[in-house]
Amino acid sequence: MAKVVSVVGNRPQYVKAAPLALALAGRAEVVGVDTGQHYDPELSQVFYDELGIAPPAHRLEVGSGSHAEMTARILERIGPVLEAERPDWCVVYGDTNSTLAAVLAAAKLGVPIAHVEAGLRSFDRSMPEELNRVVADRVSDLLLCPSDEAVANLAAEGIADGVAMVGDVMADAARLFGPIAERSTALADLGLEPGGYALCTIHREANTRPPALGRLVDALSGLDVDVLLPLHPRTRAALERAGLAFGGRVRVTEPVGYLAFTALLRGASMLMTDSGGAQKEAWFHHVPCITLRERTEWVETVRAGGNVLVGDDAAAIRAAVESPPRPAAWPPLYGDGHAAERIAALLAP
Ligand code: UD1
Ligand code: UDP
Repeated sequence: MAKVVSVVGNRPQYVKAAPLALALAGRAEVVGVDTGQHYDPELSQVFYDELGIAPPAHRLEVGSGSHAEMTARILERIGPVLEAERPDWCVVYGDTNSTLAAVLAAAKLGVPIAHVEAGLRSFDRSMPEELNRVVADRVSDLLLCPSDEAVANLAAEGIADGVAMVGDVMADAARLFGPIAERSTALADLGLEPGGYALCTIHREANTRPPALGRLVDALSGLDVDVLLPLHPRTRAALERAGLAFGGRVRVTEPVGYLAFTALLRGASMLMTDSGGAQKEAWFHHVPCITLRERTEWVETVRAGGNVLVGDDAAAIRAAVESPPRPAAWPPLYGDGHAAERIAALLAP
């Protein structure tokens, strides 16, 4: 049986790893490694609990820090794990510092790397995630792309070997766990009516620094809709540092688990976000998306008319909220929700 080390550490990585763990069950031995980049229970443990992910065999407990500190700590701690486990594959997800450090360690040790969500590009090198993506794709052996655009991005960089268009595992997660989220009481718990509020998330590095943070606070606080904002701890800390607070009709809560978030998204009239994953989830659940960024790696949602890029510009945000992007249809843009099975077949034929 093939041995697969699956490296997670951030909120969206649990969501991506869960469908693959299910698809690999009985087919490969999955050894979980959690870097500990996210450690607050509502950013980590709740996903293990809700998505039925087995507890990790290895916890690296790296915690927060600068990019250099985090990457270095993970590198240092994951090396011995990979040496001891000697897996057939090291599977990494997305574009975080946990992804970057894991691929560097695995590549140096000659452990084959499979990159889930390969080929994504925002073409904005000022995003730390863009550097992580580029490096991960350079050193990966199996590049598991969620879209044809991702395959084309890799081709443009001269990467063709090991590239497979499998679809998006987040579509799998929406298919598998969406029905369970239907039973969530999140809306009732918060006294919300379906269609009566906009859901919002903010955590991108660029948006949690001045002047963008202040511009977003002003723009969102001035809107004429109720906004529910489950706040990422990075943004909470940034607001405190800057002495800023959301006002008007913005209601701030703690981050919520995947099932509650999915229910809140499905009940929202629109999503305002700078998240990568949430942009796609809005598409999966047919919710108009207003993206608080200048660029996105999920260009298909914009081209298809379900997503609009507004950055931190108050007038653009207000205009988008007054007339949210609503396509005539919501065709599948990222596969059929069975990407994990295709990945499992490649990892453990
Ligand atoms: C990270 C990823 C980002 C991803 C996001 C998912 C990188 C470079 N960034 O961003 O790509 O979209 O995760 O949510 O890898 N903090 C806590 N508790 C936690 C974790 C973080 O309070 O459990 C706070 C700390 O103040 C920390 C800050 O959030 O310094 C930022 O955390 P970090 O992991 O560096 O980046 P994220 O913004 O979470
Ligand atoms: N999410 C969640 N609770 C929240 C906000 C987001 O469960 O309060 C989920 C969301 O459904 C998606 C993932 O977290 O699956 C996206 O993670 P995030 O926005 O932190 O990171 P990104 O996708 O931008 O890397």
